[in-house]
Amino acid sequence: MIGRLNHLAIVVPDLAAAAANYSDILGATVTAPIELPDHGVTTIFVELPNTKIELLHPLGENSPVAKFLEKNPDGGMHHVCYEVDEIYSARDKLVASGARILGDGEPRTGAHGKPVLFLHPKDFCGTLLEIEQV
Ligand code: CO
Repeated sequence: MIGRLNHLAIVVPDLAAAAANYSDILGATVTAPIELPDHGVTTIFVELPNTKIELLHPLGENSPVAKFLEKNPDGGMHHVCYEVDEIYSARDKLVASGARILGDGEPRTGAHGKPVLFLHPKDFCGTLLEIEQV
């Protein structure tokens, strides 16, 4: 069902410092910051030849990554995003297999303007999964 790795997401305490780290030290191409109020994050994408790294920083009061940053003040790996062809059929298969979808179970628009869902880390080896329809 899953296809390519779309991106890995890392929560960072300082977005500008993280972007400089990736561009100046690692020599990667980084995007300008993108504010996603619906998701409670500001994100910068690091564009690699075979995938992307999403640098995430809390935005607003109820950011889902604020607690993560409290527990991991230096930042850390947050989620893995896999591509799927059709998000509703992927969701239905996942639910039928007993996997838990976070939130109300309805896809939301992700950072690339495409529908995404998040899956409970306890069902996937302790890793928060995002699936994105491409
Ligand atoms: Co993501």
